[in-house]
Amino acid sequence: MTDTLPDRTVNAEHYRRALAVHAAGVVVITAQSEGIPVGLTATSFSSVSLDPPLVSFYVDQSSTTWPWLRSADHFAVNVLASGQAELAARFARKDIDRFAEPTRWRPGPLGAPLLQDVSAHLICLPHETLDVGDHVLVVGLVAEANVHDPGRPLLYHQGRFGRFIAL
Ligand SMILES: Cc1cc2nc3c(=O)[nH]c(=O)nc-3n(C[C@H](O)[C@H](O)[C@H](O)COP(=O)(O)O)c2cc1C
Repeated sequence: MTDTLPDRTVNAEHYRRALAVHAAGVVVITAQSEGIPVGLTATSFSSVSLDPPLVSFYVDQSSTTWPWLRSADHFAVNVLASGQAELAARFARKDIDRFAEPTRWRPGPLGAPLLQDVSAHLICLPHETLDVGDHVLVVGLVAEANVHDPGRPLLYHQGRFGRFIAL
């Protein structure tokens, strides 16, 4: 006879603390919507499929950037380098123009803003979205990928930015 799972969900604080232990790379998702550059920092970025080349991230349903991202015809994934913790924090702030100085960026081949000095850029076409809990799963078809500096990723762990040290 199999045990049944307890009829309860995890304590919210325990859940948050366990997730914080999971180190993640940091990206900034950018797009141009109605001529306006938009973007937000995300650690939920992941590869999904090799063939077709699909990547994903999750965006909070309450994000004010999401409606703009959703209406864009493509978006860019800017994979941040270890020296870009301030840039990551900037693209998570609400009270500023994230693209104003000192942010350095240029329009990409299809128009989405590309941040300068990042480890890599991916240009993605919208493939699928799915409401999942209080987030939206966004899947993109990668149209272009460029690596600039593969060796120095920015990581996020237990509420802090850091570097990767190979063993
Ligand atoms: C390290 C870090 C990782 C984040 N990851 C995500 C994420 O994966 N998805 C998300 O929706 N917001 C994430 N956020 C929050 C957003 O960057 C941003 O603060 C939020 O979207 C509020 O801004 P908005 O209303 O313009 O979207 C993250 C913030 C930080 C600092």
